[in-house]
Amino acid sequence: MRSWSLATTTSVTLLALLACSASNGESLSSPPVGSEHPARSTVQGTVGAAGIGDPDFPSDGNGGYDVTHYSLKLAYTPSSKHLAGVASISATALHDLARFNLDLSGLHVASVTLDGAPAQFTREGSELMISPAAQLAKGAKFTVRVAYSGTPKPVRGSSNLGTYGFIPTSDGAFVVCEPNGAKTWFPANDHPADKATFDFELTVPKGLTALANGELVAGPVTTDGKTTFIWRERHPMVTYLATMTLGDFALRTGTTPRGLANLAAVAPKYNNQLDRVFRLSGRITDYWSTVFGPYPFSSTGGVVDDLNTGYALENQTKPMYGGFIPDESIIAHELAHQWFGDSVSIKRWNDLWLNEGFATYAEWLWAEHNRTITAEQVFRGRMSMTSSPIWNYPPGKARPDDLFNESVYTRGAMTLHALRQRIGDATFFKVLRTWAQNHAYGHATTDDFITLAERLSGRQLDSLFDVWLYKRGRPEWPERPRRQTRPTPGNSRPTPTPTASPAPTRQAGPYRR
Ligand code: TRP
Ligand code: ZN
Repeated sequence: MRSWSLATTTSVTLLALLACSASNGESLSSPPVGSEHPARSTVQGTVGAAGIGDPDFPSDGNGGYDVTHYSLKLAYTPSSKHLAGVASISATALHDLARFNLDLSGLHVASVTLDGAPAQFTREGSELMISPAAQLAKGAKFTVRVAYSGTPKPVRGSSNLGTYGFIPTSDGAFVVCEPNGAKTWFPANDHPADKATFDFELTVPKGLTALANGELVAGPVTTDGKTTFIWRERHPMVTYLATMTLGDFALRTGTTPRGLANLAAVAPKYNNQLDRVFRLSGRITDYWSTVFGPYPFSSTGGVVDDLNTGYALENQTKPMYGGFIPDESIIAHELAHQWFGDSVSIKRWNDLWLNEGFATYAEWLWAEHNRTITAEQVFRGRMSMTSSPIWNYPPGKARPDDLFNESVYTRGAMTLHALRQRIGDATFFKVLRTWAQNHAYGHATTDDFITLAERLSGRQLDSLFDVWLYKRGRPEWPERPRRQTRPTPGNSRPTPTPTASPAPTRQAGPYRR
């Protein structure tokens, strides 16, 4: 079971057990997902590529088009584990397309239409290959509608990532899809390089609750023993963050102290956690908005299901905790991901430290904010573990067969702390806020981050990032941090930054009203 306690500084050890299902096949002759439309140059004639161009995950995502919106109308019956429905996917052709792919694993496809006209389709592994009646022209906007049904099967035991995707539970399903499990329940361009908005219309047996991303826009409406929930995520989202977790849930809705919509949901076993999860998720979201900049989405929250996965996922607007009482540290982690990972997303898995290093550093910042332990102390504790395996795994290039290695989390976070020591608190927190702002709802790479840090600090930081992110071996102890000046009481700066030195009288904090 994963412990996220900072006191024991083992917060991510269990993640060493989780590594991704690298489909470790041959790399496509495609460039890295660095260009805006990476797949474009992978094109053979008018056939969309079977992968979006992430060399570590050659068949993930697809080339030739860009999804703008998913509309998922789905019904699930827990007793039979049967899922049935229609996915309508709106997209833009990036080049002329006689054929293109979606990712879908298992499930029976009954029909595919393109802009209302029947389209030919074939299946091969997790690829659903679609040939429209007429070729699509470059730049054409189209909607492909897939009617499908069956029993979703999660991705299981691939490498050391455990089980993810659509996971059936005794009373419903726990749906957590990182890195490529969206295809277990809907046809998708299943790679974070393609973001889209989402509508969900989810029908479940009366008495159950279906939760998805964003906000409830209508209903729930119950007819004939079935209840339909309509959710909308109007901000772009990567596919692995989409969810339709359902079951017997107690709900609390309201707002955070600063007035953002907030929803907590817990399985019956965790009823006594409902108010705590609601309050903590609200408080922490509000706090991060003072540190990282405005919250990027329209609601926040947290969901505790009773399926014992031992892990949590930062599903957009609704982090989900699988089978444990989340402590403050993991709530802080998943909510920090709303800025880092969810709003600012990676273009290829290789850059995963931009998600996990940042969210782990947020755990340290939350502890620092609460005067439990400073980030500097956590950093020093980790530095002194000289034989830790993180020194053999440079976190800047997450490995496809061991994507969620502890180094990506801990050494990624240490990289940020080393940067903070080098450039000072004021510039460091400005870098974080500018990062979140400049790339909100989009994508960014490690090089983008280094460039930004250099620009805002006016320093050459190549060697710092090189030893921390790309080199084997434990970096030298950084110079001791310069003493930071703390904001004086009454300081009118709107965004207090955490300070490196404990100050029991510090009053900065967004939720003191
Ligand atoms: N991103 C998650 C975290 O650090 C960990 C994770 C990776 C995960 N893959 C997953 C969680 C699949 C659930 C399912 O918080
Ligand atoms: Zn994380």
